[in-house]
Amino acid sequence: MNSINPRSPNNGEHYPTIAGSGYKHLYHINSEYNSRLENVTSFTKLVFIQLLVTPKGMDTKHLVAIVDTNSRHRDMVAEALLSFYTVHAYANPANAMSGMLLSPPKLILVGQRVGAGNGAHFIRELRREKFLSTAPVIFIIDNEDFRTLDTIRDLGIKDYLVKPYHRSALINAISKQLNGRVEHSWQDLPPTQRKALQGTLSAFNGIADDIANGNPLPYGTVSDSCDAIVEAVNNDELGSLLHQIKDHDNFTYVHSLRFSAFMSLFGKAIGLPKEQQVVIASGGMLHDIGKMTIPRALLNKEGALSPGETKVMRNHVTTSQKLLAASTPIPKGVSTIVGAHHERLDGSGYPCGLAAPALNQLARMAAIIDVFCALTDRRPYKRTAAAHVALETMATEMQHRLDQELLVRFKEILLDSAEIAA
Ligand SMILES: [Fe+2]
Ligand SMILES: [Fe+2]
Repeated sequence: MNSINPRSPNNGEHYPTIAGSGYKHLYHINSEYNSRLENVTSFTKLVFIQLLVTPKGMDTKHLVAIVDTNSRHRDMVAEALLSFYTVHAYANPANAMSGMLLSPPKLILVGQRVGAGNGAHFIRELRREKFLSTAPVIFIIDNEDFRTLDTIRDLGIKDYLVKPYHRSALINAISKQLNGRVEHSWQDLPPTQRKALQGTLSAFNGIADDIANGNPLPYGTVSDSCDAIVEAVNNDELGSLLHQIKDHDNFTYVHSLRFSAFMSLFGKAIGLPKEQQVVIASGGMLHDIGKMTIPRALLNKEGALSPGETKVMRNHVTTSQKLLAASTPIPKGVSTIVGAHHERLDGSGYPCGLAAPALNQLARMAAIIDVFCALTDRRPYKRTAAAHVALETMATEMQHRLDQELLVRFKEILLDSAEIAA
């Protein structure tokens, strides 16, 4: 049944209250909704919700192939990537070609000594195979000599690594290639979706730079980019928006965008005016910015965290609050979402351990959406929960931690959107 990985970011946690943000109409849940929900269990409707929330292919790790004659290097790469990707390792070109035709990888790492003399011949063969020709290749070379660099240029290879390289350089190179392809595909989207994705990614990357450089965060830029998310959601383009980010590898960005889009959807469903939808969407985009200061290896760690690691992870809330406090004034709704998304109704959340009376509607809504997104996000350290499994878990195992009336409303909202998307 609902087996949720113990490392799920919200498992065993709870969220705080921020008084007086005025989202009272969330209480307007009536019997019509509840009776509709009883009928929502039909398989088709669950499939619709699942397709809306977790587009096909989002629930698995990306497959990366390494083709190299050097067994030590192959093993090292497989080990380094284990937490992030599914790795298929091949020692010789013939096996690699047949194996990759059966299971085409998203990206191929090729060692310089593969095939006759160097990897160039093998890479040219790859390019002739219809199902492999478009996969990005990262060439791994021994020396950056002129001859090798000429080969790389002739092959049109965009990225290469020179041995010895750091694990982080390998992971960054793969991420850059995979994300580059996803982001390139956004160019052909309808304008609102294109603006929403390009704008939020650019704002997100800008925040990472600002944090690194100690600059104040540009709330206006984030808010402008979220305006396009709200517009896309209001145009019933949520499904398409979520589909466009399913292969992106910046997990914090993807999580934040999904959070932002679902907040916006919630806001639309309860009739919030557009300016307030933009505020809660911006809160969604900013809610985990403190995680940008946490090493990626810890963010993606498989298995249980040590008490020290848990403390570092939980500190992301106060880090986000400090970063925002040092920036231009932000709306109260944004601080509520940022500060309260890990608080829980029974007081078991963090950072303040606030309980039900102290948690307003917006805080409760943020908690529900954060848990839902965390459970249905693609992450390397856990299986992605199907939408209906996540909702059921939230209604049973988290019954005392999450606002159940709001959860019912959220299910209803997802159902309406799924019907539209279908
Ligand atoms: Fe968080
Ligand atoms: Fe989150």
